[in-house]
Amino acid sequence: MFYRVKQFIAAITARITKEDVDFVRTYLSQSERALFFRLKPYEQRHCIEVANKLKKMAHNDREMIRLGLLHDVGKTVYPLNPIEKSIIVVLDHVSKGKIKKYSKCKMVKCYYEHPQIGYHLMKKQGDYDEAFLNKIKKHHEKDVEDVGVCLLQQADNLS
Ligand SMILES: [Fe+2]
Ligand SMILES: [Fe+2]
Repeated sequence: MFYRVKQFIAAITARITKEDVDFVRTYLSQSERALFFRLKPYEQRHCIEVANKLKKMAHNDREMIRLGLLHDVGKTVYPLNPIEKSIIVVLDHVSKGKIKKYSKCKMVKCYYEHPQIGYHLMKKQGDYDEAFLNKIKKHHEKDVEDVGVCLLQQADNLS
């Protein structure tokens, strides 16, 4: 519970610095940045943290850093403010995931479908390697064998 409160406060106070923007510019193309900066500031902050963790964990592997920045871009289609995000996290927890069946609800769509939405957004955007796009699609799947996805999930869970 305390962790959730801490997360909520971090979300409503999230700021993007000039350094963060420079970091994003180093790794993303212009069109990717346009997509990235459509995320809510607290989601941008989260993705930058994931990317920074991956920079260390994957020893500067450019593709992993890019995945850290882009893995949640699907959230741009049904954006949630920090309050909505907190509500869906709690509902997911208390319903043990059963809330997922209300798939017409914006909060449910964003929370559960953003990996698939992100995959399709990126596919429309450019000529990407399917293995790269699949890592975005699978970043919340359980029991994945792809080492890159496992690393991405580890960094995602820490941020
Ligand atoms: Fe995600
Ligand atoms: Fe994430």
